Amino acid sequence: MKTCIAVVVLSLISVCQPAPTCDQLLKPVDRSPDLSGSWFAIAMSSDVCLIPALFNSLFWPSIAVDVTAQATPKIYEAKFKFKINGCCSKDPQPFFFENNTILNVDSNNAPTGDPDVLLQSGCPDCLVVKMDDNINILLLLSKRQNATAAELTQFETQADCLGWYKPHVLNTDHDYENCNTTDDAALTDMIHQRLKNTFAAPLNCMAEKFLYYPNVAYMWAQQWWNKFW
Ligand SMILES: *[C@@H]1O[C@H](CO)[C@@H](O)[C@H](O)[C@H]1NC(C)=O
Ligand SMILES: *[C@@H]1O[C@H](CO)[C@@H](O)[C@H](O)[C@H]1NC(C)=O
Ligand SMILES: *[C@@H]1O[C@H](CO)[C@@H](O)[C@H](O)[C@H]1NC(C)=O
Repeated sequence: MKTCIAVVVLSLISVCQPAPTCDQLLKPVDRSPDLSGSWFAIAMSSDVCLIPALFNSLFWPSIAVDVTAQATPKIYEAKFKFKINGCCSKDPQPFFFENNTILNVDSNNAPTGDPDVLLQSGCPDCLVVKMDDNINILLLLSKRQNATAAELTQFETQADCLGWYKPHVLNTDHDYENCNTTDDAALTDMIHQRLKNTFAAPLNCMAEKFLYYPNVAYMWAQQWWNKFW
């Protein structure tokens, strides 16, 4: 009975959204792109409700990263640049990159932790990074500071394929030099203050999730179904 219903539901889903598209979009890249250079974070999706809600109502960050190859093969340094409400932070971090996989490194430059994977992107100068940590994040980066509507639509489809939230376009103010403060403590303070002031955001994003993605609602329903059948 369970199998039969699952088959019916699955075939309905596959009529609405052809499976090959998602298979294609969620395939890791075959050839390693050259990661060196400056990348601008364009848009971001997540499987956690709070993230897009926070982006929407509390702060709207700009993120960029400068990547440089290190002397050791496959080891790179990422200089992350964040700006939230005029406050900036810069955070250098070494990482390991091979094929389509990015890993953290320990003090001996040995790869460690959960891998981030590069997925297909809709443009030659873009990267789509899928990060599976406690919070799963899908990030669209480009050498350009903004993307075309078509590029964003493809990214949105990728997030939809994963059943994650509708991506949020990040701030395009990439001036990391003229900042109110570059003090990380001040930045953290400001974020705490803003968090304290808003509680409606998580509820709004719950509603948004179910209205936006039919297949998220479907997966949710399926989980309940499996639990009770
Ligand atoms: C930083 O400056 C911008 C304008 O330059 C202002 O909108 C923002 O509120 C300031 N942020 C803080 C934390 O003072
Ligand atoms: C990269 O690909 C090679 C050849 O397929 C494989 O041996 C290696 O383990 C891969 N590296 C990672 C980090 O997945
Ligand atoms: C990209 O940014 C430039 C300059 O900031 C702007 O002129 C252009 O219209 C933007 N393009 C898109 C597709 O938003």
